[in-house]
Amino acid sequence: MAQSKPERVAVVTGAAGGLGSAIVGRLAAEGYRLALTDRAPCTDVAAQAERCGAEVFHAGCDLDSGEQITAFAQAVLARYGRADILINNAARMGMQPIDELDIDTFRSYLRTNIEAPFLMSKALLPAMTARGFGRILNIVSNSAWAPFPGVLGYVTSKMGLIGLTRALAVELGERGITVNALAPNLTRHRNTEPIMPSEAFESHAQLQAIKRVATPADILGAVAFLISDDAEFMTGQTLSVDGGHILL
Ligand SMILES: NC(=O)c1ccc[n+]([C@@H]2O[C@H](COP(=O)([O-])OP(=O)(O)OC[C@H]3O[C@@H](n4cnc5c(N)ncnc54)[C@H](O)[C@@H]3O)[C@@H](O)[C@H]2O)c1
Repeated sequence: MAQSKPERVAVVTGAAGGLGSAIVGRLAAEGYRLALTDRAPCTDVAAQAERCGAEVFHAGCDLDSGEQITAFAQAVLARYGRADILINNAARMGMQPIDELDIDTFRSYLRTNIEAPFLMSKALLPAMTARGFGRILNIVSNSAWAPFPGVLGYVTSKMGLIGLTRALAVELGERGITVNALAPNLTRHRNTEPIMPSEAFESHAQLQAIKRVATPADILGAVAFLISDDAEFMTGQTLSVDGGHILL
């Protein structure tokens, strides 16, 4: 039997970031109970969600540490006794062309962007399996389909996360757990604005069918759908929500 949404617990990593905090706002408005983490403080985003009436647990976690991931997952289960939805949204981002990309930096992309979603999914899977319901949503990037110079480490990791999404979906389909990925395009928000020249946003937008710069709000409908009961027959997919940049 379908469980009512307000009981469900949604875990969001990278919750303090530009897209993460927008996702949290949407989930709070939809009535989910929330478990938030980031290595940056989640105090503000948690307070915002609480003002919307959401029940919120938040704790710091460096996703580059397997021990901290395990401790966070245990704390979520201790608090709520369940974890129904996991949004692996945190990521290491950056740009280094091959000549400047050393092996340690390359591995750090893989650690944060593939190993951490793997470990967090694995830690929360028993709780999802026990209830016969789960939604794992991995935030990737449409640069995985359309890389540009300098994103080798990042794109390799996001392609790996797409692989993890597909392979895990195949293993979990019979448990009522779906695993999908969502690929945004370059999105303007408080953390991307200071590090990207404004022409970069505009020139990206010109590559889209819909020629305006993406904002965090643009992905929220797709996020809400992919974690909902309505998406129960959709798994292993990567959904581009990018203004029509990548037409698969
Ligand atoms: N903003 C864009 O243009 C864009 C485009 C495509 C895809 N994405 C993807 O969207 C997701 C969210 O990105 P964003 O734009 O909100 O970036 P952001 O920098 O605003 O947020 C990312 C958050 O992840 C956290 N984080 C990073 N490494 C961590 C670690 N090791 N442990 C714990 N927390 C860590 C950061 O503290 C930050 O709060 C990422 O997966 C990113 O790859 C973003």
